[in-house]
Amino acid sequence: MSQNKPRRLWSSLPIILGAILLTFLIYQYGEKWLRNILIYLSHATWARDLISTLPVAKQVAGRFVAGETAEDAMSTTQTLNQQGRLVTLDYLGESVSDSAEAIASKDEILSLFKKIHDTGVQANVSIKLTQLGLKINKELALDNLRQILTEARKYNNKVRIDMEESQTVDATLDIYRTLRDQEGFNNVGVVIQSYLYRSEKDVCQLVNEGAWVRLCKGAYAEPPEVAFPNKADTDANYIKLLQMMLTEEARKNGMYIGLATHDENMIQAAIQYVREHNIPPEAFEFQMLYGIRRELQEKLVQEGYQVRIYVPYGTAWYPYFVRRLAERPANLWFFISNFFRS
Ligand code: FDA
Repeated sequence: MSQNKPRRLWSSLPIILGAILLTFLIYQYGEKWLRNILIYLSHATWARDLISTLPVAKQVAGRFVAGETAEDAMSTTQTLNQQGRLVTLDYLGESVSDSAEAIASKDEILSLFKKIHDTGVQANVSIKLTQLGLKINKELALDNLRQILTEARKYNNKVRIDMEESQTVDATLDIYRTLRDQEGFNNVGVVIQSYLYRSEKDVCQLVNEGAWVRLCKGAYAEPPEVAFPNKADTDANYIKLLQMMLTEEARKNGMYIGLATHDENMIQAAIQYVREHNIPPEAFEFQMLYGIRRELQEKLVQEGYQVRIYVPYGTAWYPYFVRRLAERPANLWFFISNFFRS
């Protein structure tokens, strides 16, 4: 034990120095800088190889991830359903560069619909196109998603395409429209990010199409050429877009929106708008991530709103976890303090 301690301290040195450096840089340059570094780390292979092997990282990630298997995810879903919350299941994985990996992800996702049906839980499924091979070949991702939608349709279930980095938005909307409008799949929805300048134009089109849309702020590091650099502008755009998607015209067209945010100001703005316009709670839903703002989730359920929880599972938790750290630096201190306690 006493011999282990100096060895452990020595092997922890890079993390200790990293923590000191981070503290200094945050003090010097602020949180935005830290957020960009963390988002970079979320897709850096060297960082994934280093951090994902730390038992403490896995332990802290457990706050945001339901477990490694579909059974873990189903049991979390059952608990959340009992608490009045709906679920969207996410089999973790993204940016795959090998078609065998994309096909394996597709197969795992295909198997979910029967499990959801057999257990009788209230859940749909979210996927990422780069998990299905978008970065290898657009046709591969399209074909994988087509198979997923066909299986989901058999069980009367739905699939949401998560939105990733801005370079993938055109391809994502193209695939969405090919499947929905040309091939007639009405069980597919997309995500709009309020930090992108282009989103207002995309929303106008989606309103005309009566789409099924999740609205979020956006979780990636985007340059000022494509995204609002300031949080206040992203927030103002979020409110503008949610109002556009809740208009009578949008709802008549069949639009249904998921307001994905933990921000009480956004939630209050939505509640105020729906009250002023007598919009029933069935016309939309709030969405939050598993493990985040649980008391707020519960409060909304008690007030009679529909709340859906995004429940990720699987072994590829690293990038998802680091994006959650980026969204709230306090999570990073939680991670570091657990590291020293373990
Ligand atoms: P904001 O970041 O302003 O946070 C508001 C408050 O919420 C914080 O002050 C804090 O209290 C709490 N909070 C937020 N994040 C937290 C965290 N990680 N840990 C602890 N507390 C936190 N993004 C994307 O680009 N593509 C997508 O497809 C999706 N999909 C998606 C689905 C669902 C259901 C949700 C809720 C979110 C996404 N996102 C996403 C992520 C989204 O873009 C955004 O990064 C996060 O939701 C954080 O933004 P907020 O709206 O919560 O506001």
